[in-house]
Amino acid sequence: MVKICCIGAGYVGGPTMAVIALKCPSIEVVVVDISVPRITAWNSDHLPIYEPGLDEVVKECRGKNLFFSTEVEKHVSEADIVFVSVNTPTKTQGLGAGKAADLTYWESAARMIADVSKSDKIVVEKSTVPVKTAEAIEKILTHNSKGINFQILSNPEFLAEGTAIVDLFNPDRVLIGGRENPGGEKAVKALKDVYANWVPEERIICTNLWSAELSKLAANAFLAQRISSVNAMSALCEATGADVSEVAHAVGKDTRIGPKFLNASVGFGGSCFQKDILNLVYICECNGLPEVANYWKQVIKVNDYQKTRFVNRVVASMFNTVSGKKVAILGFAFKKDTGDTRETPAIDVCKGLLGDKAMLSIYDPQVTEDQIQRDLAMNKFDWDHPSHLQPVSPTAIKSLSVVWDAYDATKDAHAVCILTEWDEFRSLDYQRIYDNMQKPAFLFDGRNVVDAKKLREIGFIVYSIGKPLDQWLKDMPAIA
Ligand code: NAD
Ligand code: UDX
Repeated sequence: MVKICCIGAGYVGGPTMAVIALKCPSIEVVVVDISVPRITAWNSDHLPIYEPGLDEVVKECRGKNLFFSTEVEKHVSEADIVFVSVNTPTKTQGLGAGKAADLTYWESAARMIADVSKSDKIVVEKSTVPVKTAEAIEKILTHNSKGINFQILSNPEFLAEGTAIVDLFNPDRVLIGGRENPGGEKAVKALKDVYANWVPEERIICTNLWSAELSKLAANAFLAQRISSVNAMSALCEATGADVSEVAHAVGKDTRIGPKFLNASVGFGGSCFQKDILNLVYICECNGLPEVANYWKQVIKVNDYQKTRFVNRVVASMFNTVSGKKVAILGFAFKKDTGDTRETPAIDVCKGLLGDKAMLSIYDPQVTEDQIQRDLAMNKFDWDHPSHLQPVSPTAIKSLSVVWDAYDATKDAHAVCILTEWDEFRSLDYQRIYDNMQKPAFLFDGRNVVDAKKLREIGFIVYSIGKPLDQWLKDMPAIA
């Protein structure tokens, strides 16, 4: 029986390994982590992450060929293939702070692998890493190897949160990069054989190591760039009376462009896009390519602009002040169908509104009060950001409440801001919400989920990203 061990039981390690276990009953898969609460949760009925379809997959395999454990060294030493899926956040201190990837967790995992290994192993980079990381990892492993053969592969993960299980069951492609020598080719084949249990062969792409590592950063940069492009257009639409949904539809009909990932929004969030682009920017700078670095940096700048623009629009529309006014925030997660709040645009929007002394009432079906408090109190690393993104002071934190119901959040509010596109926000009883709000009642839709026409008929003043503005909003222009 082939044994797989995955270091890191997070958003990627957990679901990815659960699907490998499901699709490959003859492989034993152990997911290990240094975090005891995380492993305890993976072994319980309340998994540590919310992901549609995940519970069923885990229930089917756990205890058969899927295990979660904190005995990191034991399982690494017994494995034939070791996936490394640890976090690779942006460095916050020292050389490259604010841009470069922090590889501390990766390096310590690599050193541990070298330390405890007694047999040859394939080590798979599952985490997103800077191009050329495999070379550094190879050096750590071979300098400490005691004669053991390690083959390093790059196998970046392309799943998106909220659709992780669907993405893993039916990936657009699986990418495997390896050394172009007999040892490397043999390792690539071994990993390809794992995926071939359910992924059609033509969708398994094999490349050299550096292409695989760079493709992951490139894919995320291209995806984020599409969102910043449509968001930049949304500002122009508001200024001209064009409708961003119509523009995106017309543009996306061109088969060379395609219709996906063209939804204008309050900004993209999530743990990957900003981190990976900053990493790409840093790599370009280190390679003496400042023009290329600046090109990609602009994708993040437009994203920051979009969040600031939204806050300014809210404040400007409400007579230039939200001080002491209750504002309901519907949705805090960075997208629907996840409880993940990493880099969610809601953090920046809430900080902006609290900075203007609003009283926030926040509702998200999957995010806890503790998480929201932590996110807002967190000191965000200032790579190039406007000043309103400072951590919220303990006094300002007191001006927010977290509730478990959209109607509770909106009761007596002056305004509603929709920041996540949860399906339930499409079908709320907006007449009831309107009746219980202060007047004039404002609704700022950061995800274009509501039917603005119907809401206007009820009496709301509605702002939808990139859509023609109400006379009210035209009369109260936001100064950027
Ligand atoms: P995560 O923070 O959810 O999980 C990482 C886990 O690794 C944590 O539980 C942590 O305790 C554990 N860990 C860290 N060092 C360890 C060590 N030395 N030994 C054992 N465990 C250790 O992160 P994630 O979202 O799963 O992301 C992991 C990697 O995958 C990152 O590089 C990320 O960029 C990449 N990625 C993430 C996504 C996504 O949607 N989240 C998608 C594709 C790629
Ligand atoms: C992303 C990549 O899609 C995935 O391939 C990679 O492995 C990890 O990073 P993820 O961050 O989980 O996945 O979600 P994604 O669906 O890409 O959304 C990212 C952000 O962009 C969210 O805040 C989402 O709301 C926003 N978005 C997405 C838009 O604003 N408009 C769109 O059209 C699409």
